[in-house]
Amino acid sequence: MTTLTLERLRHLVREDRVHRDVYIDPAIFALEMERIHGRAWVYVGHTSQVPYPGDYVTTTIGLQPVIMSRHSDGTVHVLHNRCGHRGAKVLNQERGSAPQFRCLYHGWAYATDGELLAVPLPDFYPAGYDLADRRLGLAPAARVESYRGFVFASLAPDAVDLRTHLGRATDLIDELVNRSPEGEVEVFGGRLRYEIRGNWKLQAENLADQYHVPFGHESTASRDGYQFQRRTGERGARARVLGEDGNPYLQESGTWAWPHGFNANGAMHFDGAQSGPVWETYRASMVAAYGANRAETYMRVKHHNALLYPNLDLHMLGMLIRVIRPVAVDRTEVTIYPVRLKGAPAEMARDVIKLANITHSATSLIQTDDVESFERCQAGLQSQGSEWVDFVRGQGRDADDPAWGGRYGPITSEIGMRNQHRAWLDYMGAA
Ligand code: FES
Ligand SMILES: [Fe+2]
Repeated sequence: MTTLTLERLRHLVREDRVHRDVYIDPAIFALEMERIHGRAWVYVGHTSQVPYPGDYVTTTIGLQPVIMSRHSDGTVHVLHNRCGHRGAKVLNQERGSAPQFRCLYHGWAYATDGELLAVPLPDFYPAGYDLADRRLGLAPAARVESYRGFVFASLAPDAVDLRTHLGRATDLIDELVNRSPEGEVEVFGGRLRYEIRGNWKLQAENLADQYHVPFGHESTASRDGYQFQRRTGERGARARVLGEDGNPYLQESGTWAWPHGFNANGAMHFDGAQSGPVWETYRASMVAAYGANRAETYMRVKHHNALLYPNLDLHMLGMLIRVIRPVAVDRTEVTIYPVRLKGAPAEMARDVIKLANITHSATSLIQTDDVESFERCQAGLQSQGSEWVDFVRGQGRDADDPAWGGRYGPITSEIGMRNQHRAWLDYMGAA
C-alpha cells in the first residue's frame, strides 16, 4: 500500500484515464469514504418512505450507519445510528415504525428526532452526570436538506446549502417530479437490491455510459436493432438501440456533464408515440394541471437517466431511483426503488413495477448484464497487464450547452465519466 499524497492522487486520475489502483486499493477506498461520501451531499432517502411520525428507514453514508426518521412534529431527521451509551446500532431493520427508538443492549430510549428520552436504572450514574446532555442522543448529520422530497445529508458542517450544490441539477429532479399531475412523486412497491463484487465507481460510471448499450445488452436487442417494449401506452413500439447501419442509434442523442460529477444521458429513441386509454387519461390530468404546452413539455422524457454523484441515479425513462452504497473496495450494494407519479392512473404504477422487474430484478434482462460487466472489470483490473483504465472516447468533441448548462457531448462519449473523475480529484483535495 502506498501513502496517498496529493501528488500520488493526481498521478492516479488523469484527464483521459484512471489508474487501476483507484478500483482495487483499500487505502484509496478508505480515503474516499472520508473525503467523498464523508463530505459530499449524499442522497439518504425520499420523504415518502417515512410518511407518518415514527416511520424510519436505515441506510449508510459511506460506511456510517444512519437513520432517516419522521418526528412527531412532522420534520424529517437524519441521525447517526449509534447509541450514545456504548455505540450499538440502535435500529437494525431496513425500515419500520416506532414511537421511540430503543437500544437493545441496555434499553436507552430515544425520541424520533434523536433526543435521549430515558435511561433505565438511572440511580447509579454519578451526581452531576447529565443524562439530558444532547451529546448522549442520536447525533444528527451535520447538514440535512431536501429538494422536492429528495432528502440529502452531508457529514461536513461547512457544506454549501443543497440548492447551491445542486445548481442546474435541480432541473433533473424537476424533470422526474413534474411528470406527476400533482407535482409530487413517491417511492412505492418495495425495492430490488444487488450486492455486486465490484467497486462503487463501476456502477457510477455505467450510469454515464451509453456506449455499452448495444453490446452489453445485446441479448435484448433484436437483429433489426429494437429492444422490448418499455413504456405505458406503447403497444408494439420498441426502443431502438441500433440504426439501420448497425451503429448505435443512440448516437443521435447527447450526454451531459455538470459540476460535482453530475451527469445525464439523452433519451432513447422510440418508434411510435405513446397512446391508448391509460395514456390519454394521464395526458388529460396533466393538461388540466399545467395547461397543454407545459403538460407536453413535462410529459416528454428528455433524459434517459441522471446521476447525482456520488450515490443517486434518477431513471427518468423507467421511473426508478437507484442508490449506490459502497461496502468495501470490491463490494457495492445497489438498490432500485420504483417511483409513482402522484395523481397518475394506477395502471402506470403497475407498468413501472413490471418494467422494474424486466430491467432490474435479479433475473432481469438489463441490470444483470451490467453487474456481469462490473464484476469482470473488478476481476480484470487485478491484472498488471496495464496500469490504466481508458476514458478518452469523445474527448475534444464536447461543448457548452446553453439549454441545460454544463458541457455536452455525443451520446457515446465518455465525458460523464471524465467529469466524475474530475469531481473525485476535487473531493479528494487533489484537483
Ligand atoms: S449500548 Fe445502547 S443502551 Fe447500552
Ligand atoms: Fe447497462
